[in-house]
This record gives sequence, C-alpha cells and structure tokens, in this order.
Amino acid sequence: MAVDLLLGLQWGDEGKGKIVDVFTSKYNIIARFQGGPNAGHTLVFNGKKHVLHTIPSGIFHKDTVNLVGNGVVIDPVIFKKELVKLDEQGVDYIKSLFISRKAHIILPTHRLLDAASEASKGKAKIGSTLKGIGPTYMDKTGRNGIRVGDIELSNWKDKYRALADKHEAMIAFYNVDIQYDLKELETDFFDAIETLKKLKFIDSEEYLHTAQDNGKTILAEGAQGSLLDIDFGTYPYVTSSNTTAAGACTGLGIAPNKIGEVFGIFKAYTTRVGSGPFPTELFDKNGETMAKVGHEFGATTGRPRRCGWLDLVALKYACQVNGVTQLIMMKGDVLSGFKNLEVCTAYNYKGETIKHLPFNIEAENVTPIYTKLKGWSEDLTAMTEESQLPTEFMDYVSFLENELKLPITVVSVGPDRKQTIVRKG
Ligand code: IMP
Repeated sequence: MAVDLLLGLQWGDEGKGKIVDVFTSKYNIIARFQGGPNAGHTLVFNGKKHVLHTIPSGIFHKDTVNLVGNGVVIDPVIFKKELVKLDEQGVDYIKSLFISRKAHIILPTHRLLDAASEASKGKAKIGSTLKGIGPTYMDKTGRNGIRVGDIELSNWKDKYRALADKHEAMIAFYNVDIQYDLKELETDFFDAIETLKKLKFIDSEEYLHTAQDNGKTILAEGAQGSLLDIDFGTYPYVTSSNTTAAGACTGLGIAPNKIGEVFGIFKAYTTRVGSGPFPTELFDKNGETMAKVGHEFGATTGRPRRCGWLDLVALKYACQVNGVTQLIMMKGDVLSGFKNLEVCTAYNYKGETIKHLPFNIEAENVTPIYTKLKGWSEDLTAMTEESQLPTEFMDYVSFLENELKLPITVVSVGPDRKQTIVRKG
C-alpha cells in the first residue's frame, strides 16, 4: 500500500492535528516524521480541546497504531507530560504507541543551548520555541546525538554525561546570562526516561515496510510548515528539520515511489509565529480581526501569531516542493465578515513582477501584488454541507483552485472534528 502524507504548506499552525484526527479512521497507522515538541497539534472533540506536541494525532482512536518516527526529536520530560494527559483521558496507549529506536533525544542541555544561542543573537534571533530543537538536530547531523535505542544500552549514561559536559562548555562560551540548575533538570529527565522505557521501542522502518507489504494503510503526519523547512523555508528563520514531503522519506524510511496522496493543508489566510519575512503581513484592523477571530496564539508557546492575507506565490511554491495532490483549506470561517478579501498572486521583486518565490523575500525586496475578491458575511461554523456555503466563499475556493491548479477537497469551518466539510468533487 502507498503511504499518504499530510503536511502544512505555510509557516505552521495550519491545523494538521485536527485533520489527521478526522482522517484517522481511514488509516491503520499514523506516523509522525519530523519535528518535536516545538509543534502543538490541537484537536477538538466532544467539547474538549487536546494539544499534542510529539505524540501523533491519531492517538485518540483506539484501533490505530501511532508511531513516532526516526526523524522526530523527543524531549522525554514533555513526552511524559503528554502521557499523563492521555492517562487522565483514559487513553490506553501502551499497545498503540510505538517509538523508533532511531529517534533522537532532546537533553536538558539542548534546551539550555537553544536559550543561550537565541540570547546571543539579540535582534537577529529566530524566535525559536526554545524546546532544544536546533541543538538536538545539530548533534544528530554532527553525529553526537543520543537516540532512543541508546537508552536500552547499559553504558548510555556515560555518553549522556560526555555530551552534557560538552554542552555546558558551549553554554559558557556564549557568555550570556542563563540561570539553571542542571541537577534538578536531570532528576526530571532521568525520571521521564524511565516512563519512556515503558513504551515499545521498534525498528520503525522495518515495521513500516512490513505493514506496507501487509496492506496496512499509513498516514505520515508532518509538523510545522513548508516555509519553515530547513532547505526550502525562509532560512535562517526556519526550524531545523525537513518539514516537506522529502522529510517523510528520511523521517520514516518510506521510499519516494511508495508515496500516494500528498494532502497539503493551508489556512484561508496566513499566519507566522516567531521572526522572519512575511510579505503579506497586515499591521491594520484586518490583521487584528484575523488574530482575534482566529484565536491566533501559539499552541506551544502562547505567543501571538502574526497575521496576513493569503500568499499564493508562497503557497504555489509549497505545492510544487511537496508534490501536493489535494488541498485542505482551514479556518475559512475566520474570514466571515470581511467586505473584500485580498489574495497575493505575484510579487514586485526589485521592480519586476514575478510569480515564484525568490531567494530573499525580505520587505526591502518584495512587495505583494494583490487580487481583490468579494467577501461573505455568513457565519460558516454550523454549516455541514458544501451546498450551504455562500457563493462568495465558493468563488474564493474556485479562485484558489484555478491559481494553484489543484483541488480543494476539504474545507474546515471551525476547530471541532464535526466542523469539516468534505467536498464531493
Ligand atoms: P524552533 O523549531 O523551535 O527552533 O523554532 C524555529 C522557528 O520555527 C520559530 O520561528 C518558531 O516560531 C517556528 N516554529 C517551530 N515550530 C512551530 C510550529 O509548530 N508552528 C509554528 N511555528 C513553529
């Protein structure tokens, strides 16, 4: 069986968690392929909100296997907190949650290094979530990391000590004011490692190959968004992993020719949290309305998200890089009440009109060129059928489909599982 992918096409926070949860009944296995607890995947059902950081979004479905792939970085302390929340909900995850032995572990000193690195950057800071993501992936590519499989070995604490000591020297080198009590952090860390050990560690690429041979259906769940990809995002204001489709191959061991559908998720407008260029960002009432109505605050850090109009230049680029086959549009309901909507269809780049994402999209080089569309006033949140959606909303959808040359097969009109309209096509 081919493996389907589901990933974000903007700067993250598109609503991947909700859609994975909605799609889970169609799949036997949900597999996270990159990122770590910098992600915050929000699911809403039965009137309750659930936020997952590392655990795949299929965890609330009892017959589904949830796999944390080799491309993910795990903070045992945060992972343990997620498990405690699942315990409180009565979710029995012991038989359904597996972890790749090749996934890397975030140490307490990785988090401290993240903080020291950001503090040393001053105004040029990335706006990291400070979860230790960058330093952990640096140790992975630098071939110094500690993997989940290592903690099954008797001498792993020696490896841990050597790496933590090295990190402490690096933190001192940054020469910034970071207060910490490593002993205390380590107590929590080693305690959480014991909790992690209660879960099943597997050779996940082998598991997935066998599952494919046996006809199991698999959905690979991405984190963050394509514009935060380490190679194709707005570098250096990106995360430290490949958030795009290729990341599912390296982060799970899926062969490229085994990929089936690529579901690309985007919001009907654009948001970004943290620093970095954002051509269509709004600093006016419209941006404030999007932030307020859309509750645009980070699920992991609580930071306010920057808001702006939809950027089709960036979206088209993300569709190309990922090989998107179907689009899913989120938060259309947030745009209700706007008299007109603007959609960026080209950039003025150093005096020239261009339709592709250039090397540099900083404000001094790029000015968005907009097409104006009519808005709608109806509240969409109780709508359950495509036929109920206002004409102007459907015109917006058709305009995007024509520009992107891809079908929008699902539209989401609210955070709840039930507020999802699958179009008949
Ligand atoms: P880091 O991955 O925590 O180092 O953060 C790097 C950049 O990616 C920062 O601008 C973060 O705000 C952003 N980022 C990381 N994870 C997410 C996410 O899940 N949603 C949105 N932005 C994210």
